[in-house]
Amino acid sequence: MIYIKSPQEISKIEKAGRIVANALEEIKNFIAPGISLAEIDRFAEDYPKKFGGRPAFKGYHNYPASICLSVNHVVVHGIPDSYVLRSGDIVGVDYGVELDGYFGDSAITVCVGDVSPEARLLVETTKKSLELGISQAMPGGRLGDISFSIQEYAESKNFSVVRNYVGHGIGRKLHEDPPVPNFGQKGKGVKLEVGMVLALEPMINQGSYETVTLSDGWTAATKDGSLSAHFEHTVAITKAGPKVLTLPDV
Ligand code: MF3
Ligand code: CO
Repeated sequence: MIYIKSPQEISKIEKAGRIVANALEEIKNFIAPGISLAEIDRFAEDYPKKFGGRPAFKGYHNYPASICLSVNHVVVHGIPDSYVLRSGDIVGVDYGVELDGYFGDSAITVCVGDVSPEARLLVETTKKSLELGISQAMPGGRLGDISFSIQEYAESKNFSVVRNYVGHGIGRKLHEDPPVPNFGQKGKGVKLEVGMVLALEPMINQGSYETVTLSDGWTAATKDGSLSAHFEHTVAITKAGPKVLTLPDV
């Protein structure tokens, strides 16, 4: 069941989304070699409180932290621990906030210190694939148009698209229908309508797309140990086209 949102609801999602985006900006700016994942989690736990919001992931299906931090071969849902970031790491930072009953969800992958050209290309490609996907989030289109454009671009760079994790509807809950795969066929899937709000979140691997879940029950890593990158935005479908709801104040 896909919930269509009113303009008022979209503006509430955007308020939550802006907190997410401003927090990600700050995190991006303080990430450096020597920063621990636990420090970033502490920031993510405290940040939304000053605005009356709360970290949306904490306690979600018993997730134990306030943010997901996924280093190198970790695809998504990495649990922050005492690990200290080193130059050359790439770290996926996935964050959600609930404000006044509405949710925003966004992710970036940050390069720590000096990163190899191959890793940088993976990160840039994943970011660009999300932008291409967003450009397809238009009324009258199909969900498969989004999926296809992400897959086509990622594979054109010889990377692979994770199959086991997908994007999702979002708004009154963190995860709503429909699932939003990052692979698929143009012209297929549900019709995109004004008032749908989708979290698009390509997860792209350097090697094969297969993933394994680690023994903590959360951490998803590449099966072959290759690097993985992740970017996400919460996007509303409006008459005028896609509207990204997870942008920072400038
Ligand atoms: N952006 C991630 C997702 O949509 C965040 C969920 S992590 C969880 O799957 F910890 F909250 F489950
Ligand atoms: Co999400």
